[in-house]
Amino acid sequence: MKKIVINGGKRISGTIPISGAKNSVVALIPATILANDIVTLEGVPDISDVASLVEIMEIMGAKIERNFEEGRLVIDTRSVVSRPLPYGKINSLRASYYFNGALLGRFGQATVGLPGGCDLGPRPTDLHDKAFKALGARKIQEEEAEHLEVVGDSLIGTTIYMDVVSVGATINTMLAASRAKGVTIIENAAREPEIIDVATLLNNMGAQVRGAGTDIIRITGTEEMHGARHTVIPDRIEAGTYLALAAAIGDGVVIENVIYEHLESFIAKLEEMGVRLTIRQDSIEVHKSENLKAVNITSVPYPGFATDLQQPITPLLLQTKGRGWIVDTIYEKRVNHVPELARMGADISVLDDRILYEAPNELTGACVKATDLRAGAALVTAGAIAKGTTQISNIEFILRGYDHIIEKLTAVGVDIQLIEA
Ligand code: UD1
Repeated sequence: MKKIVINGGKRISGTIPISGAKNSVVALIPATILANDIVTLEGVPDISDVASLVEIMEIMGAKIERNFEEGRLVIDTRSVVSRPLPYGKINSLRASYYFNGALLGRFGQATVGLPGGCDLGPRPTDLHDKAFKALGARKIQEEEAEHLEVVGDSLIGTTIYMDVVSVGATINTMLAASRAKGVTIIENAAREPEIIDVATLLNNMGAQVRGAGTDIIRITGTEEMHGARHTVIPDRIEAGTYLALAAAIGDGVVIENVIYEHLESFIAKLEEMGVRLTIRQDSIEVHKSENLKAVNITSVPYPGFATDLQQPITPLLLQTKGRGWIVDTIYEKRVNHVPELARMGADISVLDDRILYEAPNELTGACVKATDLRAGAALVTAGAIAKGTTQISNIEFILRGYDHIIEKLTAVGVDIQLIEA
């Protein structure tokens, strides 16, 4: 079993480079199936979710050259066949549901095990089902998988209203609709930067996706798609995680390879707290920040404050002065980091789906458990802030989404190690 051990309480300085976005790349890899050709992805993060997707793609027959040092994947999907994808690997990540849209689009059928991912409370897929059905596919629920097949000759474009703003359902619909006959309109679409990134790749592969980044996306289906080269956008969640860490214990930390516009709501919160920042074209410098004040956070769909960043910012909130709360309107049960932070001495609790805290808190090292990806990131930050030694178990969650986290944090002066326990 692997653990992360941190001897915290030290100030950090230097540069942290940001890798390609996890939530983009996990959709871009399945999307390459639609090309039936060779697609080169650059800026691919070295994270275990990518390794899992590569393994699944190879099971389907894709030929993949990977060069993680250079962040490149060359994916040849010409020999991919739509064979049933069993539970096992598929269940290791949430984004495996993108195989449904991609396989349905290219082959008119897909049998994919049920998706896994972090436990954030209920994570239904009814909107994905609704979209596939509207496009003309039938779903047969099997014990541990779902089988989708086109009822007529092909998927047919239509208008689909998303009852809830959903990143996954928006992307899955774009994937399937790219190869449908006619025009598909997604209303109340999610607007996350990762959706624009997927649309960019689809367009470079010959699709016609218009309006990505707004709440109405129009996709004109095409019979043929082709190879392309694409660079993954920087990971705004990784950037936000390290910005929060730098605000807590930094003394001149530069977060490099960021798109500021993707982080506007997060940065607005940092500024409200009193964090001193210098924003440059593709980097953000965090200056030594003191006398921070407590703020309240409500996570909402993009461009609002991201649910994926409410856990990583929590340890920083504990370093401010005053009382505050966090409400996660996307996943109200996304509170698993709270008891672990309390074990480290934080004055934090959950009341009626609201996280309440009182700061400042003197965090002390403890043995804690990463219960999900972003809770794990919160514990790494808390461990770096805390006095003494913090041991984090269940770190597989963290390695799913943070590329070279040990090396990146060591380089700025965090005393952090990965050990085999
Ligand atoms: C994606 C991200 C995840 C992020 C989340 C919200 C990936 C791989 N994961 O997850 O990191 O936290 O967006 O920004 O990109 N919903 C339904 N029915 C559905 C689908 C979703 O009711 O069919 C609800 C969900 O329960 C949730 C909300 O819609 O309350 C948003 O979920 P969604 O955007 O779909 O999340 P994911 O795509 O799974």
